Amino acid sequence: MLVMCGPECFDVAYELSTNRWMNKKVKPWKDAAYQQWFRLFGQCVETAGFGTIKIMRPKPKLPDMVFVANAGLVYQDIFIASNFFHKERRPESEHYENFFRNHFNQKVCLLPKDAYFEGQGDAVWLDDHRLLIGYGVRTNLEGVKAVEKILKSVNPDIEVIPLEMRGVKDYKPREKIFYHLDTCLMYLRSAKSFLTYLRPFIENAAERLVGLGEIIPVRRDEAEEFICNGIEVNQTTLFLPWVNDPIRNALADFGYTKVKTFQMSEFMKAGGAVKCLIFEM
Ligand code: ARG
Repeated sequence: MLVMCGPECFDVAYELSTNRWMNKKVKPWKDAAYQQWFRLFGQCVETAGFGTIKIMRPKPKLPDMVFVANAGLVYQDIFIASNFFHKERRPESEHYENFFRNHFNQKVCLLPKDAYFEGQGDAVWLDDHRLLIGYGVRTNLEGVKAVEKILKSVNPDIEVIPLEMRGVKDYKPREKIFYHLDTCLMYLRSAKSFLTYLRPFIENAAERLVGLGEIIPVRRDEAEEFICNGIEVNQTTLFLPWVNDPIRNALADFGYTKVKTFQMSEFMKAGGAVKCLIFEM
């Protein structure tokens, strides 16, 4: 099952200190954004295996709601609602809470005020009991701990694996900040491997990752164009914003012989791409 949120209200209406892709003077072109979103939606609909796709209606003045991957995290019948780091995105949460409560009958869990957590932007399940959470830019350690506590109260066997990412201060003034885990890491579920740019992780975290699975390394310039921001359809097929020959070949060696690409230019102006537009459950 997938959730997507329509592009009707999408815009770059503010700038966020952690997201240097956003520039209020470089507005997304609405028609192109619609086309890009609907092509992705259409391909998801046509893909057997995804099951139902629910569409959430965006709210006016909340231009980032299209990036519904950041809504929160689902485990069994609970929905842990995101607690956004930037005040600009906080009003989105109540809409996600209502949506997941009303459409999926999910029990909504809220996080303590200072525990920041940005859902599937920073968290990815490795299997049914191991959850990777990136923290240090948006999600913070308090957020990781709070999520861990909730999950363990449902299932004590759950293991949360925190990966510390370099913070804003570790970047040069104009450098792009890899502010969410999904901006620099994609978990290749069937291959139990990672497509990733490792530099945004502090040393320990990078070492930890290397111990968790094989790595298909990505360069900074590739990561800045969101090559890691994709979803796995099945053991042979991936949806990515784009690909080049070396990465296509590397992915094929891991069994992913079909890489379907999706033009995401308009959403990249807000610092997001394929994965950000899709909430997987
Ligand atoms: N403008 C949004 C933000 O900075 C983009 C979010 C992209 N989502 C993601 N999962 N990386 O919060």
